[in-house]
Amino acid sequence: MTKHHKPNPRTSHADATYTLGRTSHETTRLIEQSRIYGDSTKRLFKRAGIAKGMRVLEIGSGAGDAAFTLAELVGPSGQVIGVDVNAEILNTARQRGIDSGMQNIEFVAGDARTLELSGDFDAVVGRFVMMYMAEPVAALKKFLTHMRPGGIVAFQEPEYTLYRALWHPDTPLMNQLISWILNVFECSGAHLDMGIGLYRTFVEAGLPEPSMHLEVPIGAAETWAGYRYMATIFQSLLPLLEKYGLATAAQVDVDTLASRIRQEVLVSKRPFFLPFHITAHASLAI
Ligand SMILES: C[S@@+](CC[C@H](N)C(=O)[O-])C[C@H]1O[C@@H](n2cnc3c(N)ncnc32)[C@H](O)[C@@H]1O
Repeated sequence: MTKHHKPNPRTSHADATYTLGRTSHETTRLIEQSRIYGDSTKRLFKRAGIAKGMRVLEIGSGAGDAAFTLAELVGPSGQVIGVDVNAEILNTARQRGIDSGMQNIEFVAGDARTLELSGDFDAVVGRFVMMYMAEPVAALKKFLTHMRPGGIVAFQEPEYTLYRALWHPDTPLMNQLISWILNVFECSGAHLDMGIGLYRTFVEAGLPEPSMHLEVPIGAAETWAGYRYMATIFQSLLPLLEKYGLATAAQVDVDTLASRIRQEVLVSKRPFFLPFHITAHASLAI
């Protein structure tokens, strides 16, 4: 997302690979991710003004977690249309919606940048998805064509570049994990700075300056779920870490990763930080 973002020589396609893969493990990881970041996403939607009766377009629904939060906020008189380019993961999202009795959500398979959608929306939102778009400004401009005047735009994206600030001599494992994460996302062509980049994306797409917030889950308790969640991130990243020659399965050792992180926290007395996320929201002119 940096202005002069160089195409990575190791990625030949125009768009970023979906770095975290498309396995059933990745679906489980998305559900766990929502347990960790769900509260901050709900706060974003409320701050942005998502309310009863609204018709909301959600970009990159994955297993459906953000869509379920939206469906609760818009209520039975509202509607959520969730789009994802991965048709298979939407089967999981649909089934989860049916299981929880939600009738105001529809999931549509396709690339959100080119999909034809009928009717205007009161809001367009997305979580952890713009970082995978080769041209976020062009993508957002396209999404805005589906909006009514005065509509709400709200996105939540990771900001990996801030992770570098956590390097510390007492936490060699954390230092290694940060280095692997930065390198693998960079090699895959994803935008490492999409969180901060939301500002430029919003204003260059013609939106007013967004309200922005930084969210970072931090933990040190022995039972904190964040250690296990980090291990699930690495299980999803492992195929690409190996493909790009950044690490081997033995070096990552996913099975013991959560307990090794917890041990490092206990010994170093430095809490563990999950990836930083930035939220941004604005409204279109009326
Ligand atoms: C990290 S997942 C996040 C899923 C969900 N938003 C959540 O927070 O649980 C990103 C999702 O965006 C989808 N995606 C990426 N590019 C897309 C595009 N151009 N159009 C629609 N979906 C896209 C991927 O298939 C993936 O399911």
